[in-house]
Amino acid sequence: NPYRVAVVVGSLRKQAFSLRIGQALAKLAPDALKLEIVTLHDLSFYNQDLEAQAPADWLAFRDKIKSADAVLFVTPEYNRSIPGVLKNAIDVGSRPYGQSAFDKKPAGVVSNSPGAIGAFGANHHLRQCLTFLNMPVLQQPEAYVGGVGDAFNEQGDLVKDSLREFLQKYIDAFAAWVAQQYK
Ligand code: FNR
Repeated sequence: NPYRVAVVVGSLRKQAFSLRIGQALAKLAPDALKLEIVTLHDLSFYNQDLEAQAPADWLAFRDKIKSADAVLFVTPEYNRSIPGVLKNAIDVGSRPYGQSAFDKKPAGVVSNSPGAIGAFGANHHLRQCLTFLNMPVLQQPEAYVGGVGDAFNEQGDLVKDSLREFLQKYIDAFAAWVAQQYK
């Protein structure tokens, strides 16, 4: 059976490059992985007061993460950090205390930007959370995808060969690494 990978997309934008990269990775993934896109449009704000009767959208998100064997975060950078929607998803998934959906799941981080720095700041702020969440994170290859503005056509197809080659390398390495974690 393939390892199930929840691809958590850190942007709500319909035409988000982050979503397109997630979809491209799903297509490029080897048979050993099954990628499922998880978007955050329906996820309400974390509020500890609600934990005793947690909202259905929190429970659904936690279940999606729990049922996955690994988590791949594809995120843009907002103000040199991660978007609030992604931080909220991390907070929702991490609770109740001691029952984090993320605990011990192998993870990957693919940050991206139309700019040149490839959302390095978001990538490493996210890694700070993942360290605390006890998630082993793939270290190499790193994925700071810059210059993403010309990578997709109107239909959302990946048209930049250099990025396709990189994403292929990345997802193959991720597959090998996830398999190793479950040995
Ligand atoms: C941005 N953008 C941005 N880009 C970047 O490389 N570093 C940054 O710190 C920021 N900061 C930032 C803040 C806010 C509030 C917005 C809306 C945007 C630009 C960002 O990379 C661009 O909008 C991407 O297209 C967003 O990613 P998605 O939605 O295409 O996945």
